[in-house]
Amino acid sequence: MKYDFDKIIDRRNTDSIKFNPTDRGRPDDVLPFWVADMDFQSPPCVLEALTERVRHGIFGYSETGRHYFEVLQNWFSSRFEWEIKPEWLVKTPGIVNAIYIAVRSQTSPGDSIIINQPVYYPFASAVKHNQRNLVISELLYENNHYSIDFEDFENKILQHNVKMFIFCNPHNPVGRVWTKDELVRLGEICLRRGVIVAADEIHADFIYPGNKHLVFADLHPSFQDITITFTSPSKTFNLAGLQLAHNFISNVEIRAKFQREFERSGLSQSSAMGIVAAKAAYLYGADWLEELLQYLNGNLNFTRRFLNHNLPQIKLVEPEGTYLLWLDCKSLNLSVKELENFILHQAKLWLDGGTMFGAGGAGFQRINIACPQAFLQKALNNLQEAVSRLSHS
Ligand SMILES: Cc1ncc(COP(=O)(O)O)c(C=O)c1O
Repeated sequence: MKYDFDKIIDRRNTDSIKFNPTDRGRPDDVLPFWVADMDFQSPPCVLEALTERVRHGIFGYSETGRHYFEVLQNWFSSRFEWEIKPEWLVKTPGIVNAIYIAVRSQTSPGDSIIINQPVYYPFASAVKHNQRNLVISELLYENNHYSIDFEDFENKILQHNVKMFIFCNPHNPVGRVWTKDELVRLGEICLRRGVIVAADEIHADFIYPGNKHLVFADLHPSFQDITITFTSPSKTFNLAGLQLAHNFISNVEIRAKFQREFERSGLSQSSAMGIVAAKAAYLYGADWLEELLQYLNGNLNFTRRFLNHNLPQIKLVEPEGTYLLWLDCKSLNLSVKELENFILHQAKLWLDGGTMFGAGGAGFQRINIACPQAFLQKALNNLQEAVSRLSHS
C-alpha cells in the first residue's frame, strides 16, 4: 500500500470531540469509536493544498468558481455516472444544517415528515426542533438483515399526510446500500403521494465489494424533480471540521425555497479551507480513497472473523456500505441501560448506543471501524474480556 493507514496518530488535545470523553460526561479512560470521523489523516494531496494555503496566509471571504464546479462534476460523473448541473448546487457548512434548512424551507410547522428508524439521529432532531410532526416507519429486521416496510411506509404517508421523507442512502447505522428495486419503489411511493425526498448520500463513497451506490435522484427525471440530494467530501476524506457540503436541487421551486431559507439563516460564503480541501480531494484523492476502501474492508473482515471466533454472543449486521458497524448485542440479555453501562464501564468503550437511532435500536451498538486495525483490535479485545467476565459472573 502507498498510504499508511496503520499509523496511530494521537488525536487527544486537538479539539476532537471524539477524543474528549469527559466533555460529554464519559469516563476519561474509554476508547472512542462513536462519532463518524476517521482516525486517519486526510490524503496527502489535501494536506499539501492546505499547507500551501496556510503559507499564503490570508483567509478572507472566499467563494468557489467555475473550475471548482467542474471538479465536482467530474467526481459525481466518474464515480456515480451522475451528471450534475451548476445551477443545482447550493453549498452549506454541513449536511445536518442543510437538512434543517430543507425541513424549514419545504414544510410548515405541524407538517408531517417521515423517516426510517433506526437512522442517523439528527433526522429526528431536524423534524422535532422545527416543530414538525415526526412519523416513523421502522425498518424490518429479519435474519440479521434490514429492509424497508413499503406497505407501512406508504400507509403512514397517507395516514399523516406526510410532506417530506428524510432518507439515508447508504444507510447509517444499518449499513444498507439500497438496491435499484428498493429505490424505485420508494421513489414511486413518494411521487404518487406528493412527498419531497431529502436524500442524504454522505456515505456514498463507502461501498463494500459486490454493492453499488445508486444516486436516488438519478434513477428517473421525476425522482430528480422531487429530491434534494445532500453530499459532502467530509466523510470520504475526513474533513468534517472544515465544514463544507454540496447539496444538489434540480427543481427550480424547491431550490429557490431552499436558498431563501439558507439566506434567512444569515449564511453566505463557504469556509476558505473547506474549499481548498474539497477541491484537492476530489481532484487528486481517488487513489487514496481506493486504498482506504481496501483498508476498511480489511477492518470489516477482521471484525467479522473476531466476532465469529471469539465473541459469537455479538452478531454483526453485515454492512454493504459505510464504516459504521451495527452490532446486535441482544443475546447478552441486558436492558438498554445495562448495555450502555456495560459498554462504557466494563468494556471501557465509547460507542453509540442503539436507541440513539430510535427505539428499534434497543439491544444494538454502533462501532466506527475507520481507525488503525491495532486500535480496533483493542476495542474488540476489551469487548471480549468484558463479555467473558459477564458470562462468569
Ligand atoms: C448520514 C449522515 N448524514 C450527515 C452526517 C454529518 O454531516 P455534516 O457533518 O456535514 O453535518 C453524518 C455524520 O455522521 C451522517 O452519518
